[in-house]
Amino acid sequence: MPKLIVVNRAGEESTIDVAEGLTVMEAIRDNGFDELLALCGGCCSCATCHIHVDAAFADKLPAMSDDENDLLDSSDHRDATSRLSCQIAFTSDLDGLKVTIAPED
Ligand code: FES
Repeated sequence: MPKLIVVNRAGEESTIDVAEGLTVMEAIRDNGFDELLALCGGCCSCATCHIHVDAAFADKLPAMSDDENDLLDSSDHRDATSRLSCQIAFTSDLDGLKVTIAPED
């Protein structure tokens, strides 16, 4: 099973196995990281699933939609590595991806 590395807000790193068909948000939430609120349940309307993604994987990520881009603009913690984790389907191409849960806005 492909692996996802998650860094929480305390800087602690965990590696989780991700079943096919999940988004990065679902994988993080389902593994008990309660820092990732994902309040809208993944329909790209809350921005509480904000993560920073390892730049080495930038080319492998799905393109960002205008909605995602606009929502990320509402965060004080946006940078070039910011994504909404509910908008990234986790595929085997992303095996070993490292993401950091963004600070709370
Ligand atoms: S869970 Fe709400 S935007 Fe991702």
